[in-house]
Amino acid sequence: MVFKIGNLKLKNRFLLAPMLEPNDVAFRLLCKKVGCGLTYTGMVSPLSKQNMMLDDKPAVQLFGNSIKGVASFIKKYDKDVSLWDFNLGCPSKLSKKMGHGACMHDDVEMIEMILKVMRGATKKPVTIKLRKSGKAIEIARMAEKYVDAIGIHARTVGQGYSGDVDYDFALKIKEAVSVPVIYSGAPKGVPPTWMASADADKVGNVNDKYRRILKDFDFVFVGREAIGNPGIFARLNGKKSGVGFKDYLKLAKKYGLFFRQVKYQAMNFTKGVAGAKKLRLGLIGAKSVEDVERVVLNNKLV
Ligand SMILES: Cc1cc2nc3c(=O)[nH]c(=O)nc-3n(C[C@H](O)[C@H](O)[C@H](O)COP(=O)(O)O)c2cc1C
Repeated sequence: MVFKIGNLKLKNRFLLAPMLEPNDVAFRLLCKKVGCGLTYTGMVSPLSKQNMMLDDKPAVQLFGNSIKGVASFIKKYDKDVSLWDFNLGCPSKLSKKMGHGACMHDDVEMIEMILKVMRGATKKPVTIKLRKSGKAIEIARMAEKYVDAIGIHARTVGQGYSGDVDYDFALKIKEAVSVPVIYSGAPKGVPPTWMASADADKVGNVNDKYRRILKDFDFVFVGREAIGNPGIFARLNGKKSGVGFKDYLKLAKKYGLFFRQVKYQAMNFTKGVAGAKKLRLGLIGAKSVEDVERVVLNNKLV
């Protein structure tokens, strides 16, 4: 079966959620290899001079509160990108200070200007990722003119990344628009209301939870559950995982990723691994990619 966001065909409905630190090119490639429908980068400023590595042909998420640099950034990378997303969900202190992400919902006019520029700069699909707010439904309705899908993480700025996801609010977004809606915010952390309801028995394991969400929404973002665990995309598609840190390391070396990033990902991959404590202690002392490799091989973290 083929699923579509605008003119982009996807093999399935499980997407890697935009995440700034975990979603480096090596990690994204692994997710894609084992069946992720579409990978998103973390948020990037169109004014950034960093060289984007886009071999997985990801969705690239932009953030900002002006149109400055948007069109030229899109033109620069457009051929290597599957679609362009605009971040309306970041709740960080910096977002508050600078007035972007979830902290620019009051400036619907500026959001519309940015979406107009994005739409005009590319023939690729455009998406937005929203957070719950008093303006989110108005923004979703306005955005429909410009975008091919809308993501919703139904927590407020104040909630950050914890506390109940307002599943009903996400459903309101779905009802308000006719473009596909991508659900975000489950199942790690405090579960959305339906998980605590009579349905809870039927959604015992993680795969069932995501599938339950896909009864109500068109696509689902897999976020924290995928960190250090790209194999989740294989399992969600009914296959065996078959990828581990060694595969990540190979790619990280190929792309020359920085030691700090490799060490951070090694820590992520220790989640739920037997002997994780010893492994982490070894990793804490690592001072180079080679150190990380040695610790990993010694401890059979694959
Ligand atoms: C480490 C981390 C980094 C994130 N970075 C971004 C980002 O750059 N852009 C964005 O829209 N959301 C970002 N998010 C939010 C996720 O995309 C997602 O909406 C949120 O984690 C809830 O989904 P989950 O419960 O599946 O993790 C980030 C989340 C985490 C944990």
